[in-house]
Amino acid sequence: MRKVLVIGAGGQIGTELVMRLGDKLGTENVIAADVKSECPLGLKGSQYVELDALDRDKVRSFIINEKITEVYLLAALLSATAEKNPDFAWRLNMEGLFTILDLAKEGYIKKIFWPSSIAVFGPTTPRKDTPQRTTMEPTTVYGISKQAGERWCEYYHQKHGVDVRSIRYPGLISYTSLPGGGTTDYAVDIFYQAKLGNHFTCFLEKDTRLPMMFMEDAIRATIELMEAPIEQIKIRSSYNLSGCDFTPAEIAREIEKHIPTFHISYQPDFRQAIADSWPGSIDDSEAREDWGWKEIYKLPDLVKVMLENVDVHLLT
Ligand code: SER
Repeated sequence: MRKVLVIGAGGQIGTELVMRLGDKLGTENVIAADVKSECPLGLKGSQYVELDALDRDKVRSFIINEKITEVYLLAALLSATAEKNPDFAWRLNMEGLFTILDLAKEGYIKKIFWPSSIAVFGPTTPRKDTPQRTTMEPTTVYGISKQAGERWCEYYHQKHGVDVRSIRYPGLISYTSLPGGGTTDYAVDIFYQAKLGNHFTCFLEKDTRLPMMFMEDAIRATIELMEAPIEQIKIRSSYNLSGCDFTPAEIAREIEKHIPTFHISYQPDFRQAIADSWPGSIDDSEAREDWGWKEIYKLPDLVKVMLENVDVHLLT
């Protein structure tokens, strides 16, 4: 019997993951948790509890009392926001992880999902088809916290047998809820402005290539990884995962095919340096070999589905 808790469920990944897990396991077996007292709009219809990932005692007693078997720990500050609040970002991104890893070590939780990111790589990493194992010298607070988290996940697995599974998500593109505070967020914002008929000012240069993925692929990957037989999970730090990759100019050109009047200009800000330190494309052959990963969405499908579905009312 699986009983799942998604912490940080109100964010871009959580709102869709809770829905999909609810469809699979029954909404009575999936609890969404976030720091807000009110259930966020995107989680209506699911079981909701107010839970601060940093409140170790409350998280512990909730998980133990509710007999939670599986935790998805999504609460984190993303790359751009973390640069503005490094102390808090480090605390949030690390302390919550230890709370959950310890509960698993003590036998209360059977399985953990914890997201890592392409931000674990840095300027000294090979940018093209970045391998699973390579030089990793992240230069952002977010990247440092994700890299440290990856090491701790592997450590808890090796020392204590904790079944923790992880993906290095690329930039995630979705329409159900808005992203917040990431360097890849331009590739979501662009659709809202295009649909509103507005000019789009991109905070990255036109040729900045980054790895990206449509949310449906990302959720499917997460569920497939979590359901894969334990002997197939050979990497306990975090799996490289690739969907597609593109530059701002390329996504703009694809949008123009649907909205010929669309216009983009470029005004790079502090996020350019973050993007420049990250890979342009990812080699995910180990995820493909170990648990059969295969993406569906490439740039043209992603643009089509986004333009069909973004709801500009989410902006208000
Ligand atoms: N999308 C994230 C960010 O831009 C990367 O993991 O911060």
